[in-house]
Amino acid sequence: MIYISCPEIVLQEVRIVAKITVNKKTYETDADPSTPVLWIIRDEFGLTGTKFGCGIAQCGSCTIHIDGEPRRACITTLASVAGKEITTIEGISTASDHPLQKAWIENDVPQCGYCQSGQIMAAAGLLAKKKDPTDADIDAAMNGIICRCGTYNRIRAAIKQAAMQGGK
Ligand code: FES
Ligand code: FES
Repeated sequence: MIYISCPEIVLQEVRIVAKITVNKKTYETDADPSTPVLWIIRDEFGLTGTKFGCGIAQCGSCTIHIDGEPRRACITTLASVAGKEITTIEGISTASDHPLQKAWIENDVPQCGYCQSGQIMAAAGLLAKKKDPTDADIDAAMNGIICRCGTYNRIRAAIKQAAMQGGK
């Protein structure tokens, strides 16, 4: 019988750092590429305005914009946002004074508030494309953004008010 001695194998952990752009600022993360962006923006970057609801793309509370399009952050992987612009609720205005945010306040939209950043991000995506949305446009854009407090009528009123004020 022949014995072969093997050289010592040294395993070295390789840290891969990804750069992503959130609200026009560049962040670095070494999270696994399959990690949902929701975890990274909340837990690593401290942008907690985006909420975790269901984690399976069913409630809309985690809605952010990727290259201007509303997307569910809970099912959007880090790998899929390379080279893209992410916008969260913290990034749509500098002083919480986006026309939608003002209309939300004036119409007393939030109740518990949990769904509301997702609602506003979906509405902002709509107004960026349609300056004068119809009820059907609003229904289509807001479909699937669930509010357990039932604020849907106030949301519709606030979107229409923001649209009248040229909100985008
Ligand atoms: S947490 Fe993403 S859709 Fe519910
Ligand atoms: S305001 Fe409570 S879930 Fe929408």
